[in-house]
Amino acid sequence: MSTPPSGPSGLLGDLQEVVGPAHLLTGEDLLASYTTDWTGRYSGTALAVLRPVDAAEVAGVLEVAARHGAAVVPQGGNTGLVGGSVPRARLAGGRPQLVLSTRRLTGGLELDRSSRLLEAGAGTTLAEAARAARHAGLHPGIDLAARESATLGGMVATNAGGLQAVRYGPMRARLAGVEAVLADGTVAARLSGLAKDSVGWDLGALLSGSEGTLAVVTRVALRLEATPVHRVAALVALDEVSSAVELVTGPLRRLASLEAAELTLEAGMSLVCETAGLAPPPGAGGAGAWLTVEAAADDDPTDELARALADPRVLETAVAGDAAGRGRLWAYRERHTEAVSRLGIPHKLDVSVRPGRLAALLARLPDEVEKRAPGARIVVFGHLAEGNLHVNVLGPPLEDDAADDAVLRLVLELGGSISAEHGVGVAKTPWLRLARSAAELEVMRRVRAALDPGGVLNPGVLEPT
Ligand code: FAD
Ligand code: MLT
Ligand code: ZN
Repeated sequence: MSTPPSGPSGLLGDLQEVVGPAHLLTGEDLLASYTTDWTGRYSGTALAVLRPVDAAEVAGVLEVAARHGAAVVPQGGNTGLVGGSVPRARLAGGRPQLVLSTRRLTGGLELDRSSRLLEAGAGTTLAEAARAARHAGLHPGIDLAARESATLGGMVATNAGGLQAVRYGPMRARLAGVEAVLADGTVAARLSGLAKDSVGWDLGALLSGSEGTLAVVTRVALRLEATPVHRVAALVALDEVSSAVELVTGPLRRLASLEAAELTLEAGMSLVCETAGLAPPPGAGGAGAWLTVEAAADDDPTDELARALADPRVLETAVAGDAAGRGRLWAYRERHTEAVSRLGIPHKLDVSVRPGRLAALLARLPDEVEKRAPGARIVVFGHLAEGNLHVNVLGPPLEDDAADDAVLRLVLELGGSISAEHGVGVAKTPWLRLARSAAELEVMRRVRAALDPGGVLNPGVLEPT
């Protein structure tokens, strides 16, 4: 029998009894990939990483953590962009931190074809879920570039949005049920998959966007959509960004087949071409903006898409109907995140405004950043149809949040959100009091205190500072 590793007050020994020695990881080398986030901006020290295999083991880990006064950071694919999936750099009282990895929670994937539902462990990646659905002629109605790593549980916890939200909504809308473990080990589940059910509060809705602060999601039921027979993608070069906004809020928005309408600008396009070695996009050299558009329907939507794009402001369009061709067009948009990160760690601002206010936001953004962070480089792209822009600011030191403050205050002035789809994590906590009223924050505090009175789950995340 192996000897339990030593640790504060027998904490590690007790945890080992729950998950077994193979699934309690300690030591800097083994922990490195769990304790630093995808961006490289956020990191902290964990006493151990626990890899439970089911809800009972998750409950055991939480019970032991509570008994020993440790904090638990739930972690899925660790693709989150706001620092909520890794230990805090500093935690009040020097409490030990544990990472609870959900990546082994992948058992029992079930597909109900006639009800168009998929149920799977929360550690299942989006790509795995999509592959399982595809065999039944269905798809999850949610997609993002981190699909191979992002987990269903993490996507519930952040209320992920992604590339198809214009048609199918964010993760909250895709959710048909959850199983989750509360901080005291209580396992609550509602996985009925019913289209209509008004018996009180909706557990899944409560946990959507809770960022690991209310419970650990252990199982997820997803609504699926029928895979359309035809799918066509277009990369559209436009004279200027205001034309992109007008097309998206006008003719494109009226297409029932519209599945994605993504914005890219010159700064990001040239960076992606340079770092990913892509050929110049259509309209290179003259375009002021690009739209990556996808339409999908049982009747071929190519002609209706072409009609919507028949506009003098469109300079050039590349169209693809086959999977490989669509992939080539999407690469210009999907590779933005990695291309930006090659320049250094960006200030990442994921904001949204009503589509009708996009023009004002895009027009004022560069000046507002320049005033507070002279010389900063800005790379903007995003989900234009939902008014969701990803503003990446490079140049100012990470501890200098003047540019962040300028962008977020501008967005708030325009009635927008300081986090459209990535969550608050630790990155946006300084602006929470500006984004939510004292009464709303008090509701959040009371719900959190009721479900996790000991503050075990993800302290520091989603807490106003
Ligand atoms: P993690 O990063 O591990 O965790 C994120 C948060 O959820 C943390 O607070 C964590 O504590 C909590 N959490 C994780 N699992 C659980 C669980 N089972 N129970 C309770 N809490 C949990 N996001 C979008 O919305 N749209 C995009 O288009 C998009 N594109 C991306 C592209 C790239 C290249 C990258 C790197 C990221 C992108 N993201 C996008 C961000 C990220 O993929 C999403 O936030 C995703 O939902 C995180 O899933 P995850 O499993 O990696 O969660
Ligand atoms: C995206 O839409 O590509 C993402 O949300 C990631 C990012 O903001 O970099
Ligand atoms: Zn996004």
